[in-house]
Amino acid sequence: MENWAFTRVQTLADNGIQTIPPEYVRRVEKTHHDPNRFQVPIIDLQLGFSSQQHDHFCKDQYDSIAAQISRAAENWGFFQIINHGIPDSLIARVQEASKAFFQLPTQEKEAYANEAQNPIGYGSKIGYSPDSEAKLEWGDYYYNAIWPPDMRDMSKWPIQLSDFTESMDEYSRELSKLFELLMEVLSRDLDLESENSLNESVGGERKGLHIRINYYPPCPQPDLVVGLAPHSDPNVLTILLRDQTPGLQIRKDGAWIDVQCVPGALVVNIADQMEILSNGKFKSIEHRGVVHKDRSRMSWAVFCSPPRDVLVSPKRELIDEQHPPLYQGAAYGEYLTKFFKKGLDGKGHIHDAKQQDSLVSNS
Ligand code: OGA
Ligand code: NI
Repeated sequence: MENWAFTRVQTLADNGIQTIPPEYVRRVEKTHHDPNRFQVPIIDLQLGFSSQQHDHFCKDQYDSIAAQISRAAENWGFFQIINHGIPDSLIARVQEASKAFFQLPTQEKEAYANEAQNPIGYGSKIGYSPDSEAKLEWGDYYYNAIWPPDMRDMSKWPIQLSDFTESMDEYSRELSKLFELLMEVLSRDLDLESENSLNESVGGERKGLHIRINYYPPCPQPDLVVGLAPHSDPNVLTILLRDQTPGLQIRKDGAWIDVQCVPGALVVNIADQMEILSNGKFKSIEHRGVVHKDRSRMSWAVFCSPPRDVLVSPKRELIDEQHPPLYQGAAYGEYLTKFFKKGLDGKGHIHDAKQQDSLVSNS
């Protein structure tokens, strides 16, 4: 067993260090600040109080919202949704229960620590080994399956926190409905044989949700580190809840730009398996987290993914002589194993999934 333990970022920050350890120092690409030129699309889902009630839409309303989602998935890979139907009070409960986790004494949190080969639990970096060239990131996280409940690793579940389980149960149910709505819209946009087609491709009822709760403490030298290194998400679709502290950035036309904080909004992003299923129509975009000198930041990424045994490849309706498959198919579990082994790697993982001849013809 390799030496896996290292100091938590929260502990470094709480100890008030002024110079960060060299393992964290890296070259950080600059942010491009021009909010007038680039704004991630904000889409009003008009869902009132519960996301399951989208049957009440009239056709024009549905079509207009669906067109905005499809355009954003193609042109941005990232968008924000407002009036998504998830009550503010539920969101506040999820946030409180997870803050309580990070406020537990160090030894209590360490009881949930993850291992080098398995990211489930409390951790500080994926794909890191002390003898590699990899740099550490200025953030700690809690990672586990949240839905369906029997996928949770209960040995890493903070059962003692009041409302953690109940708020995650309710939040997962709401997010499952939103993921299904998004996949329905995207299936229609791709002209697939049924509106349930993408949902079926990711396992239907067997698909799962995982949460990564990110905690980025203040950093004395924020320009020398990243909170979360550039990556695209390995799963199908991600819905991210964040506090009102900026820090999430995406790479747009080569430049790193901020995703603006919008009260009550959730951020949606296309992830690698959706790019593959859509044969490149929907884009899984590189993103990162930056940190601040005097403010901490939290975010809650929920990843929708197929079971590990499901083979993911471009949908066959999208393939013909003019449109060859741009990606190789792979079992999702294989893709994920590579992701966790190598760690965050920009668009490296999806690049590896590209067909070799499509790389040649594109270059
Ligand atoms: C992630 C992620 C962004 C953020 O956890 O995959 O991209 O703002 N998080 O923390
Ligand atoms: Ni991400």
